[in-house]
Amino acid sequence: MLGEEIKRRETVVVIGGNRGIGLGFVKNYLSKGCSVIATYRDPEKLEELKKIKEIFPDALDFYQLDIKNEAAISSFSEKIKQPIDILILNAGILLSISGSHPSIDKSQEMRDTMDVNVYGPDNIIRALFPQLLNPHACAVYVSSSLSNADENLGGRHHAYRVSKAAGNMIMQNWNIELAATWLAEGHSYQIRPCAFPISPGWVQTDMGGPRASLTVEESVSGMASVIAAVREHKQASLYFYNGSVLQKYPEPLVVTKKKEEDKDIVSAQRLVLSTFHDSLETHPVDDREWSPE
Ligand SMILES: NC(=O)c1ccc[n+]([C@@H]2O[C@H](COP(=O)([O-])OP(=O)(O)OC[C@H]3O[C@@H](n4cnc5c(N)ncnc54)[C@H](OP(=O)(O)O)[C@@H]3O)[C@@H](O)[C@H]2O)c1
Repeated sequence: MLGEEIKRRETVVVIGGNRGIGLGFVKNYLSKGCSVIATYRDPEKLEELKKIKEIFPDALDFYQLDIKNEAAISSFSEKIKQPIDILILNAGILLSISGSHPSIDKSQEMRDTMDVNVYGPDNIIRALFPQLLNPHACAVYVSSSLSNADENLGGRHHAYRVSKAAGNMIMQNWNIELAATWLAEGHSYQIRPCAFPISPGWVQTDMGGPRASLTVEESVSGMASVIAAVREHKQASLYFYNGSVLQKYPEPLVVTKKKEEDKDIVSAQRLVLSTFHDSLETHPVDDREWSPE
């Protein structure tokens, strides 16, 4: 019908979408009517994605991507022509739980873990930055509660803890840089792209093992609700899958400044209006009526 807005199908990109939590995200967003682009590393591990493609032939695409390979990230980003609504940085590795053995050199393990859990996701956001510069975009890093210093009572997992904590910081940075770029282009701060990390809980996957407390579906449906809420309210923090905040992040300075600027503009507009009205009748203006929230 003329004038009626045609609703665009949202695009969700899942990095590491062939098994475990990533595959759960693929199924979740396909069932919500989204268009999903999933990546896999090993063509031998594609059975599940191929089966799902038979059910959703038009809505699912998948591409091979090893996130340690910067050139591959660059050519992957060139294949994504449309704006991205949700980018799930799910691919990750946990090479060992010890990490602190006094007589074993663990520096290679640390480097390998950083390659996948930190540099890969960072490079992917950098490569996909233009596709993320849209008002509803949200980049989500699948982190871990082990990244949170407040909850580190048991030690161990050196490389994994360090990498996920670094990944969280990278996401906080991207959240600020997306906001800064968006606002510099003159757009609204209330509707802007965002980025944040989330812990999925302890989940029954190859990594989590069969004794884990959550099924993939429980973890993913919880995280999808958190993602929807963050996309609406733009409150980036380190979240848990059930919506609780593990570590609260401050609002980016660029956003608070913009709010102040807009407040000044609104005050100025009211002053002009009140002066105009004053010439007709007394019209008091109370700035407290206006709130940026
Ligand atoms: N399960 C848990 O309890 C738990 C708890 C906290 C956080 N997490 C985090 O949740 C995320 C998903 O975990 P999961 O339990 O689903 O793990 P998983 O079953 O081991 O699956 C890991 C996924 O990451 C992919 N991947 C690994 N290295 C990659 C690389 N270099 N390039 C591209 N893809 C790569 C894997 O691809 P391949 O199939 O080719 O190996 C696979 O799709 C991870 O980031 C993990 O750290 C999990």
